[in-house]
Amino acid sequence: MKTLILYSSRDGHTRKIAYFIAKNINQSDLCEIKDLHNNLNINLHKYQRIVIGASIRYGYFSIKFYKFIKNKMNDLNTIPSAFYCVNLIARYSRYCTPDTNLYTKKFLKSTSWNPKISAVFAGALQYSKYNIYIKILMYFFMKIIKNKISLKDYIEFTNWNQVKKFSGYISKL
Ligand SMILES: Cc1cc2nc3c(=O)[nH]c(=O)nc-3n(C[C@H](O)[C@H](O)[C@H](O)COP(=O)(O)O)c2cc1C
Repeated sequence: MKTLILYSSRDGHTRKIAYFIAKNINQSDLCEIKDLHNNLNINLHKYQRIVIGASIRYGYFSIKFYKFIKNKMNDLNTIPSAFYCVNLIARYSRYCTPDTNLYTKKFLKSTSWNPKISAVFAGALQYSKYNIYIKILMYFFMKIIKNKISLKDYIEFTNWNQVKKFSGYISKL
């Protein structure tokens, strides 16, 4: 089995999850991890399983992600595939499944891609990677939702057990 894990990430957290999945899927499988943003013309038929992860900014995935899914729709629907979405709102248990997370639910409803399994993972706040405007924006956003966080903080909300479980399901695709 050859598995491809593609990630669409702005600050690296979705990539970190991709590497964690690769470590936790069946050890005997070959696994390649690639940045979706640099591999828009990749031949997906070299792989028996495809996993795609993408993060949310300002309520949306990146444009490259939407374009990739659209362009590769036929291939994606003929090869067993899995999808995971990364965002901050998913740190609340009421928003952490594909049926309850607004971004994931909306995307899966609107696309013709039919991943066999989907998951939603809470992301991370990485103030050191943000420019001053995003730092201030995220600081006030966290304040509004009553999370007191210092501008120096790096906070990971990801439930790695949940990612491990998802990796196990991928092994069975
Ligand atoms: C500028 C910015 C906008 C964001 N917008 C949202 C949002 O609308 N909803 C949400 O739940 N999370 C939002 N997030 C949180 C990200 O989804 C989270 O930080 C995630 O870990 C980013 O993953 P990445 O590093 O792979 O891009 C935002 C983060 C940043 C920096």
